[in-house]
Amino acid sequence: MDRQFLEFHDVLTSFKSYWHYRPFSQCSALDEAPWAQSSPQIVDRFKRFNLDDWAHFEDGLVGEESLDFLITLDPRFKVLKDLPFRKLTNASQVDFIHNAKIKQRKNEQLLALIDHLPQSLPPHILEWCGGKGFLSRLLRIEQKIQSATIIDWDSHLIQAGKDLRDIDLDTNLNIDQINELAYHYEVLDAMSPQAVERLHQHQCIFAIHACGCLHRRVIEQAQVNLHKTLVIAPCCYHLDTLDEYEPMSKIAQKYTQSETQGFTLNRYLLRLATQQRTHASERRQVLRQRAAAFRLGFEQLLLHLGFTDIHQFPSLSRAQQRQNFREVCLSFASALSLHPQPFQACSDADYDRFERLGHERLLQIIPLEQMRHVFRKSLEYWLCLDRCLALIDKGFDVQLTQFCDLQVTPRNLMITAQSYACSTP
Ligand SMILES: C[S@@+](CC[C@H](N)C(=O)[O-])C[C@H]1O[C@@H](n2cnc3c(N)ncnc32)[C@H](O)[C@@H]1O
Repeated sequence: MDRQFLEFHDVLTSFKSYWHYRPFSQCSALDEAPWAQSSPQIVDRFKRFNLDDWAHFEDGLVGEESLDFLITLDPRFKVLKDLPFRKLTNASQVDFIHNAKIKQRKNEQLLALIDHLPQSLPPHILEWCGGKGFLSRLLRIEQKIQSATIIDWDSHLIQAGKDLRDIDLDTNLNIDQINELAYHYEVLDAMSPQAVERLHQHQCIFAIHACGCLHRRVIEQAQVNLHKTLVIAPCCYHLDTLDEYEPMSKIAQKYTQSETQGFTLNRYLLRLATQQRTHASERRQVLRQRAAAFRLGFEQLLLHLGFTDIHQFPSLSRAQQRQNFREVCLSFASALSLHPQPFQACSDADYDRFERLGHERLLQIIPLEQMRHVFRKSLEYWLCLDRCLALIDKGFDVQLTQFCDLQVTPRNLMITAQSYACSTP
């Protein structure tokens, strides 16, 4: 995996100017994009895009199209398409818990994840930041484990988890006995010393969609002679106690010490890795774009009227999203406690002009954001490789797989670490 990391680090570094920047503060027009000089043909193409084209482009970023776009930039990005992936073969499980309102998409995710697990697991697991513990229950129903400890700091989720009722697999036990024997729910802050104790008490840990410092803790505490299996699906890398990213593996530490050797990452850049929306409806996308254009138009109008020191605008309520540009500007002015007179004095032609300017500005800004977004999965892959290598540094055997389609969840990367040094229970 070292070689895999180095190759990918190299390609991501060589495309740093395409994602490692901050639109607005570093550049605010397409021609100023840090990548404009190296990809003039893309600049030309993007200049011809209208808002519908951008909506289509943004849609494509959710799935394979963004990978295809990357591969046209450099064939080395093909590694992202080639990540091990197996379609779910057994999707039969429905209504597995009597009184659970488990969302269809969550159900699909968990089943796909279970389908990608190692053949045998230790009989007892720890589900780290497990919410209601759906995964543990599914694992037991699928007869992969016998029992689970589920920790989460949200007492409501824990109580809702305790109240769940599995389908009755074992006719000798009633539902209360199953709950009593099979599941131990605990309200616990994953960052507390007691939670570390829990990590050390269990041989098999699942941390699914645990944010930044929460899954980081599992990796930091992992010990090859204590832990047999770790299954981690990382999430929200930017939600960490650290402002600047500290690489976890020795190799990443070496290659991210300076901007000249590679790149450094801060919270803003880390956010990119998980800044992925699932498909927004066409109508919501249109409303979002319209609101963004209106804000930019209003910004220009403010400058025209001599208000130069206003940089923060209120957001538009649902009702305001249906207003026309003039009405929106008056609402903004009122929310900012600006005197209405200059805004009322503007003619319809003025409003038309600033509305048009807003759309033009939006078309300049969208590509600066969207180009960064093309690199979301690449950054996420790099961060996952860093986590894999940190576990390899500790002596684990590690696999990185995609456990489901991007459409089911964009956080579809899963790290499985196994230790053969660990004695069997
Ligand atoms: C994205 S959810 C994932 C839940 C579950 N693993 C799943 O896949 O459905 C993240 C969970 O982490 C929990 N959480 C956040 N911070 C925590 C902390 N410091 N200690 C324990 N749990 C925490 C939240 O309450 C939430 O249930």
